[in-house]
Amino acid sequence: MITLTSVFPDQNNIPEKFRLSGPVEQSEYLINGEIREWKGDFQDVYSPVYLENEYPKPHYIGRYPLMDKDESLKALDAAVKAYDYGRGEWPSMTVEQRIGCIKDFILLMEEQRNEIVKLLMWEIGKNLKDSEKEFDRTVDYILDTIESLKNLDRDSSRFKIDQNIIGQIRRAPFGVVLCMGPFNYPLNETFTTLIPALIMGNTIIFKPPKLGVLLHKPLLRAFKEAFPKGVVNTVYGEGQTVIAPLMESGKIDVLAFIGSSKVADILKKQHPKPHRLKCVLGLEAKNPAIILHDADIDAAVSECITGALSFNGQRCTALKIIFVHEEIIGPFLEKFSAEVEKLKVGMPWEEGVNITPLPEPNKSEYLADLIKDAVSHGAKVINPGGGIFNKSCFFPAILFQVNDKMRIYREEQFGPVIPVVCYKDIKEPLDYIINSNYGQQASIFGNDADQIAELIDTLVNQVSRINLNSQCQRGPDSFPFTGRKDSAEGTLSVSDALRVFSIRALFAAKENEVNKRIVREIIKDDKSNFLTTDFIL
Ligand code: G3H
Repeated sequence: MITLTSVFPDQNNIPEKFRLSGPVEQSEYLINGEIREWKGDFQDVYSPVYLENEYPKPHYIGRYPLMDKDESLKALDAAVKAYDYGRGEWPSMTVEQRIGCIKDFILLMEEQRNEIVKLLMWEIGKNLKDSEKEFDRTVDYILDTIESLKNLDRDSSRFKIDQNIIGQIRRAPFGVVLCMGPFNYPLNETFTTLIPALIMGNTIIFKPPKLGVLLHKPLLRAFKEAFPKGVVNTVYGEGQTVIAPLMESGKIDVLAFIGSSKVADILKKQHPKPHRLKCVLGLEAKNPAIILHDADIDAAVSECITGALSFNGQRCTALKIIFVHEEIIGPFLEKFSAEVEKLKVGMPWEEGVNITPLPEPNKSEYLADLIKDAVSHGAKVINPGGGIFNKSCFFPAILFQVNDKMRIYREEQFGPVIPVVCYKDIKEPLDYIINSNYGQQASIFGNDADQIAELIDTLVNQVSRINLNSQCQRGPDSFPFTGRKDSAEGTLSVSDALRVFSIRALFAAKENEVNKRIVREIIKDDKSNFLTTDFIL
């Protein structure tokens, strides 16, 4: 029998190496190359991990500055000055020099691995294995970005001659980039925009997500030491106080934001120059799995478990609705329910744990409401213990049969509630996808190449990635990650990100003797960082 009554640990039962040495009292922030001390208001941070000896009070783990408008505008001034219309030290550096700074940053970042992994567990409840993976994947992403930039630069190191015009085409930065990542991948997803934006020569204002702030503290010094002043600046606080003034200034050139479309819309509207502002957005998704009549049920169940419940379903790529053909609905539900029952609920550092505390305030109550609504329209929770919760710990619920009257049918639950729809005709899941506001990915489970080919050809114009007999996911990071409709703007991957944070700029000259002489002199004496045939080795 599933019970969560004593799920939270006593302080003394937590292994020494996973304990925080004390609350992270962060008063520091980075502006213009200086680590400054905040003297104003602070935001207290509580862990989703409750402690038995403090229960029902949440466990305090630190605080961070609630900066005001003036201080936020100082971060903007620093970033604008460091860019200096593209004449600043950072945008003027050679690609090799910028790569050198990023390499310094990686060394400093790696020293903080243990601390950051620990804070990922305490701040957002991500389990140890996934927290370590998030850190290591981020370092790999940065290393791959360096290699990708080298290739991009090598390709641009040649001249082209066409119609008697000599040209050299390179990629140049936009200016000031505002980077805001999500709470579920506070390190990785923030850095998959921040690092490419930075390495292309832009300057950065970086605001950590609402949850997952303290884990960035160990990196402040690394940013300060690795980059020239003003190139990376941090702001903390309420969006309306610290972000609105940045957008309203009209001085933000690129908004890199991963979160809800509602917030993205507000931010975009605040900017007075809509054409100057470029946006790179990762937004909501409601990725469906379609289980065809001939699917391998065991394999489909196993992928649907990880697809719907890794990090408690708090992934934008999670499977958020499952359509199962009527011929196999019985055995599918039976096996799916049995597998969910085996999942281990516990604290992030516990060996083999699957379900961990949810960091969003009142998330369990929100999920319980979704279930209540579905039940009032005829659905049932079909797995033992489904939907029981204790504060932030919520046992996954499989809801069946779900229909379009229920909120869960369309709403992105971003948590461990799994709606299942039984279908007769493939038109039903296809209509669902066509009518959805979202279009990130879909998974198909089946065996018949003819039927699958037909589905691929239909779905490829509805979503951005179709996964065969596997869950939806972002990786590998060399693959494009994007979405249609309200799910995204712009495409990210190691190589695509370098493109979205830069614009093609070119030098062109008529092929005559005067111009040739000038170009030769510039190249021979290394007079320009842009007009050069240097080849990075
Ligand atoms: O939250 C959205 C993430 O980009 C998903 O990445 O599929 O690797 O978990 P993932």
